[in-house]
Amino acid sequence: MVTVNRNYLKLPGSYLFSDIARKVNDFKQKNPNMNIIRLGIGDVTQPIAPAIIKTLHESVDEMANESTFKGYAPDLGYEFLRKTIADKDYLSRGTTVYADEIFVSDGAKSDCSAIQEIFGIENKIAVCDPVYPVYVDSNVMAGRTGDYNAEKGIYENVIYMPCTEENNFVPDFPKEKPDLIYLCYPNNPTGGAITKESLQAWVDHAVKIGAIILFDAAYEAYICDDEIPHSIYECEGARECAIEFRSFSKNAGFTGLRLGFTVIPKELKCDGVSLHSLWARRHSTRYNGAPYIIQKAGEAVYSNEGQKQIKEQISCYMKNAKYIKNGLLDAGFKVYGGENAPYLWLKTPNNIKSWDFFDLLLNKAGVVGTPGVGFGKNGEGYFRLTAFGTLENSIEAIKRIKEL
Ligand code: MLT
Repeated sequence: MVTVNRNYLKLPGSYLFSDIARKVNDFKQKNPNMNIIRLGIGDVTQPIAPAIIKTLHESVDEMANESTFKGYAPDLGYEFLRKTIADKDYLSRGTTVYADEIFVSDGAKSDCSAIQEIFGIENKIAVCDPVYPVYVDSNVMAGRTGDYNAEKGIYENVIYMPCTEENNFVPDFPKEKPDLIYLCYPNNPTGGAITKESLQAWVDHAVKIGAIILFDAAYEAYICDDEIPHSIYECEGARECAIEFRSFSKNAGFTGLRLGFTVIPKELKCDGVSLHSLWARRHSTRYNGAPYIIQKAGEAVYSNEGQKQIKEQISCYMKNAKYIKNGLLDAGFKVYGGENAPYLWLKTPNNIKSWDFFDLLLNKAGVVGTPGVGFGKNGEGYFRLTAFGTLENSIEAIKRIKEL
């Protein structure tokens, strides 16, 4: 008899953003004339910047010409892109990461969810609570967790690290010893950032207990404060205990183009084995590389024009964040985030449950956000709004929320 991977059956319901999309579609069908403002999923709205589009067109044309046509991309990414990333994102900022430690992929979500495959099934994971659901769900699918305890809103055999107002949304070291620690800063969903000192403390702790940090830096381009680290490798000792994930989705609008990368330093070992070699083996076996035209577009992100244009886009999103934050504060909400990240994390009024607030906002204001509890039990009573809309929509959303 054919059997299925029963670990999938432990997952309650569907993926958070699929649930939301379904609810919004139902609402849309019943209210076809309502202009819905979508500040739920963190998807960008500005088009790809002109310098990047130009390169994209040129590289498409290369594919039409026999002498410049490209077939399979090199397993780990084109050298032109890996070298550019190493120079611009790391070496020129005084951080040690070399081109051959960079693995180009189709995005940080794929890599964050797949990385657990190179670790033993007996490893214990620690995640922030609230957390981006992909880290937990991918470990559930692999069988690294126990069952879901619906009453407690947690999976057995996972270490949850509460991120609350009290600890400024940066977790304390858990009492129980984890093997793999997922951290995401600037944070999704709370919109908080981590100081260099706190990140260094996490690196020191990981080295001390022999754990590996899986550091998701997808939102680093939104850091405005000079004191906030852009990469975990700015911390001493991180090359011996950390893997970093980066994305082109949020900084350059590639959510539909798909491009990201993972950094694994050569000296990073676990169980006497190089994690770089394991991931290289995995990557080359399972993946045929991000498309040439997309990697060329990725290279153009780092050109002078590209940098100038994406910085303007990011500053528009951060203007939205400021507008939404001030508007909500003005309306009497308690709001966090939005200063070094494109997410606002607000406390629901009168402790309304997150999903009830979602329904209220959708039904009465036609505004879509993300219920905090969808990110974990410590997200209950919170709600996430993104700054990825237009300024016009952000203004309209605040107006409608104020009228509630
Ligand atoms: C989110 O809304 O949390 C993000 O869009 C998810 C993602 O980047 O995959």
